[in-house]
Amino acid sequence: MKNLINELIVAGIEENEAKKEISILESEIKDKEKIKLLVKERIKKRIPVQYILGKAYFMDFEVKVNKKVLIPRPETEILTEETIKKLQKYAQPEIVALDIGTGSGIIAIALAKLIPNIQITAIDIEKEIIDLACENARLNYVEDKIDFKICDIFSKCFEKLLQSRKFDLIISNPPYVKLNEMQKLKPEICLHEPKIALHGSKENKTGLIYYKRIVELVKKCCDIKLLAFEIDPLLVSDLKFLLRKNGFNNFEIIKDYAKLDRCLFVYI
Ligand SMILES: C[S@@+](CC[C@H](N)C(=O)[O-])C[C@H]1O[C@@H](n2cnc3c(N)ncnc32)[C@H](O)[C@@H]1O
Repeated sequence: MKNLINELIVAGIEENEAKKEISILESEIKDKEKIKLLVKERIKKRIPVQYILGKAYFMDFEVKVNKKVLIPRPETEILTEETIKKLQKYAQPEIVALDIGTGSGIIAIALAKLIPNIQITAIDIEKEIIDLACENARLNYVEDKIDFKICDIFSKCFEKLLQSRKFDLIISNPPYVKLNEMQKLKPEICLHEPKIALHGSKENKTGLIYYKRIVELVKKCCDIKLLAFEIDPLLVSDLKFLLRKNGFNNFEIIKDYAKLDRCLFVYI
């Protein structure tokens, strides 16, 4: 299968990604000729194999994916793993968490699988996305621990949600790709992954509006312990400014595998 990895690399796919995709194909399909055909299709259409197969892996579990949701990223594994480590410090009978922009449900599902005493609300903007996340929670036997809801964070329902329950943790990997960075994305991402997940609403020119909405509402109406965000390294100084402006001075930034600032934890 080394040849197939090379074919992907020659076609411009990063080595790590190429190895991961071939390993997914090999684990799913036994027929080598079929794998070769799928690799050709993948190269021609620049479509990630996860969308071809309709499934992807996050940490150590499998989820279904379709073009309504982002393919899970290794950076999001870092966010989730670090959050789990930090939650261990809060010894309390039950942890109540909110996952904003749940997509395929990966963050909520991982928290539910790995933290025994957690109850999670997970929101996203469209019914089809929430239906898929619910299905993934069922496939991973954690549906009892997650309450999935359709909720647009710019609508009143989000304010009501924050007031309705005391959340210990709010976690989010929001749409954060700036408008002018969207054209620089590789074809696999800009042709196939959903714009609503990458960049979000039209108003999100700077990549900041989701963070701003969440931080301002947390300040206004929510008494949480930990706020955990995945971030674009390009936004770090704007995010620090936003946090300080809202009175949040105790925060920590964690780097990803490429040594780029990727996770932001705010201790409240
Ligand atoms: C970067 S993706 C993250 C998906 C998943 N949590 C992950 O880490 O792979 C951002 C998610 O936010 C959702 N989203 C976009 N705008 C939203 C809004 N106004 N309210 C709620 N969710 C929104 C998108 O549909 C998408 O699923």
